[in-house]
Amino acid sequence: MAGPPLNLVAIYPGSFDPITNGHLDLISRGSRLVSRLIVAVLRNEDKRPLFSVEERMEMLREAVGDYANVEVSSFDGLLVDFAAAQGANLIIRGIRAISDYEHELQMALMNRRLRPELETAFLMAGEAYSFISSRLVKQVVALGGDVTGLVPPLVAARLKGRYAVPTA
Ligand code: PNS
Repeated sequence: MAGPPLNLVAIYPGSFDPITNGHLDLISRGSRLVSRLIVAVLRNEDKRPLFSVEERMEMLREAVGDYANVEVSSFDGLLVDFAAAQGANLIIRGIRAISDYEHELQMALMNRRLRPELETAFLMAGEAYSFISSRLVKQVVALGGDVTGLVPPLVAARLKGRYAVPTA
């Protein structure tokens, strides 16, 4: 019987609009488990993102610079096809609360149906991050609130710039 693959290559897919400290916590945990971790931004304009794919990748690259085995990429089409093209054998997703579970289970089972040899692993974000989402972070900044400690400083600055009220 063949043993487990020694060379785990994982994809961590998402919208990352923008990256939060919750995502970073997951990247840090994931990077310790696998030999190569590819953070992959979905190219899907239907979601009407705040930041372009290029901006999101730039922020991600800046934030994951310390991890030697983490790279940043983007994809469109099916995640399982992108994973196969990258030679990945694992998808990593984060679960914050039970409310995430139903949707994540659906996606994981659909992906398994499409490509049975590709496994999905769920990692639990640290409890300090369990309430953070890109959506709420954007809303708080848009309404003038402070998101220090919830996103990397560079992201906080970009968010502020995006929602700044023009003077003149
Ligand atoms: O950060 P998000 O928005 O929760 O990430 C969702 C993502 C990118 C993981 C999901 O939308 C996805 O994998 N899209 C690619 C399309 C696809 O493969 N669909 C079929 C399987 S669910």
